[in-house]
Amino acid sequence: MAEIDLMDRYPRSQRPIEERARQITDAHRAIARRFDREFFDGDRLTGYGGYHYHPRFWTGTVERFRDHYGIRPGWRILDVGCAKGFLVHDLRRLIPGVDVRGVDISRYALAHAHPEARPFLGQADCRKLPFDDDSFDLVICINTVHNLERSECVEAVREIERVSARHAYLVVDAYRNEEERRRLFMWNLTARTILHTAEWKGLFREAGYTGDYSWFAP
Ligand SMILES: C[S@@+](CC[C@H](N)C(=O)[O-])C[C@H]1O[C@@H](n2cnc3c(N)ncnc32)[C@H](O)[C@@H]1O
Repeated sequence: MAEIDLMDRYPRSQRPIEERARQITDAHRAIARRFDREFFDGDRLTGYGGYHYHPRFWTGTVERFRDHYGIRPGWRILDVGCAKGFLVHDLRRLIPGVDVRGVDISRYALAHAHPEARPFLGQADCRKLPFDDDSFDLVICINTVHNLERSECVEAVREIERVSARHAYLVVDAYRNEEERRRLFMWNLTARTILHTAEWKGLFREAGYTGDYSWFAP
C-alpha cells in the first residue's frame, strides 16, 4: 500500500471555490447525487456542466499509470466509476493490447459513453463488482468511493481489493489540514464521506486494502 500521486498531470479545475460555495444548495446536491443527466451534462451547480471527451484530460495520467505499473499488452484493467468511459478509451488508445473494462452506477453516463469505449462498459455498483476474485492486473477507482457512506466505502474498497490480482489505485476526497478541509466542504457536491488522510488510511486497513492511493483536494 503506497501513497503516490499519479494524477499530477490531470488538468486542475479553475472554478473559483468561494463563488461555487455561495451558490450550491442542498437541493443542488440532491440532484447531483442521482448521477443522471443533470450531474454530467446539466448546469454547473449540479455537476460538471458538460462532461465531454478531450484527450488532454487523461493522456498524461494514462502515461503515468503505464510507466509506474509497467503496464504491458495483455493486462486486464478495470475502471470503477468510469462515467462515460473516457479513461477506458484512453487506456485502450495509448497502450495497445490491454483489455480494459469500466463499470459505473449511472445509466445516463453509460448511455452517453464514448462510442469506442461503450462495448467495454457495464452498469454496476462499486459495492458489488460483477467479477471473479483476482480478475484484473490493475483496478483504478477515481473520485467514486467517497460518494458512499463510510461503512459502504469499506465494502467498496474490499471489492476493489477482491477483484484485483496485483495492483489497485484509489483516489478519494481527503484533507490534511483545516484549510484543505474547509475548501473540500465548500467544493463538495456529491461526496458523503470526506475524511482526514489518516482516517482514510485507517479505513483502507479495515478493508484489507493493499493497493495504492492518493487524495483529491480542490
Ligand atoms: C466524480 S465522478 C468521477 C468519474 C471518473 N472516475 C472521473 O474521475 O472522471 C463519480 C462517478 O462515480 C459514479 N458512481 C457514484 N456512485 C457509484 C457507485 N455506488 N458505484 C459505481 N459508480 C458510482 C458516478 O456515476 C460518477 O460517474
